[in-house]
Amino acid sequence: MEMMKTLTAFYFSGTGNTRYITEYLCGKLAPGFSCEIYEIARADDAARKIRQADVVLLAFPIYGSAPPIPMRQFVHKNGGLLRGKQILLVETQYFFSGDGAASLGRTVKKYGGNIIGAEMFNMPNNLADCKTFSVKNGPEIRKKLARARKRADRFAKRILEGKVRRRGFSPVSHGVGYFCQRKFWWNCESSKRNRLKIDPARCVGCGLCAKNCPAENLVFQDGRIKPNGTCVLCYRCVNLCPRKAITLFGAAPPETQYKGPRE
Ligand SMILES: Cc1cc2nc3c(=O)[nH]c(=O)nc-3n(C[C@H](O)[C@H](O)[C@H](O)COP(=O)(O)O)c2cc1C
Repeated sequence: MEMMKTLTAFYFSGTGNTRYITEYLCGKLAPGFSCEIYEIARADDAARKIRQADVVLLAFPIYGSAPPIPMRQFVHKNGGLLRGKQILLVETQYFFSGDGAASLGRTVKKYGGNIIGAEMFNMPNNLADCKTFSVKNGPEIRKKLARARKRADRFAKRILEGKVRRRGFSPVSHGVGYFCQRKFWWNCESSKRNRLKIDPARCVGCGLCAKNCPAENLVFQDGRIKPNGTCVLCYRCVNLCPRKAITLFGAAPPETQYKGPRE
């Protein structure tokens, strides 16, 4: 009898979208794979897990057509183990990235990873303090999530049939991703990392943001919450703060906070 292949998924998710679609997709892949799912920050002994996996799935949200810093770091740290490994890429976005999946895929390829599939999923917006894009919750996002699940169904079917689909890997997508977004994003990323604003008039020092920050950026200092320059722009704190005291890109606090796909 043929042994079932092991698929190990590593994800980074600021506000839950990427986690949601990763878990859904792995559920759909269960007939062909024995799946394990890990958040990269909590994946103890990731090196051993990668070595033992037949297929490694990397899932991440897109930020300005670029992968988040923690996912880039994860790939560089474990790059040596990716040589010859079968890799699946899952990227989530609000509506546009051009080559979101390939933005990490190119790095994976440099390390010798064999990309057997890549897909990009439109998910609800989490940029809560950015006036250009509104945030929606509950019934208003159900259609979008249903569409994402359908796409995951098709992607899973292809993987199970052994068919390769690598969305975002064409030269046109590459050019669009770079010239429409990344070219400007790198400056934006570095300038915003130190600019997280916490309104002292609103903050009551409850510590929810510090407890949930995936980058240990928010710390207590003299009884107050202070950012320490390690922000990865994931927007978890902006969306979580019960007092709407935190802003990042916008000038004003968010009107609506994103509650995540399960709310
Ligand atoms: C800093 C930042 C930049 C983003 N840039 C883009 C973008 O360029 N294109 C896009 O369609 N969505 C963009 N988004 C939206 C997220 O990629 C999208 O909502 C994603 O599904 C969030 O995933 P998560 O809940 O797993 O963190 C951005 C979000 C953030 C926080």
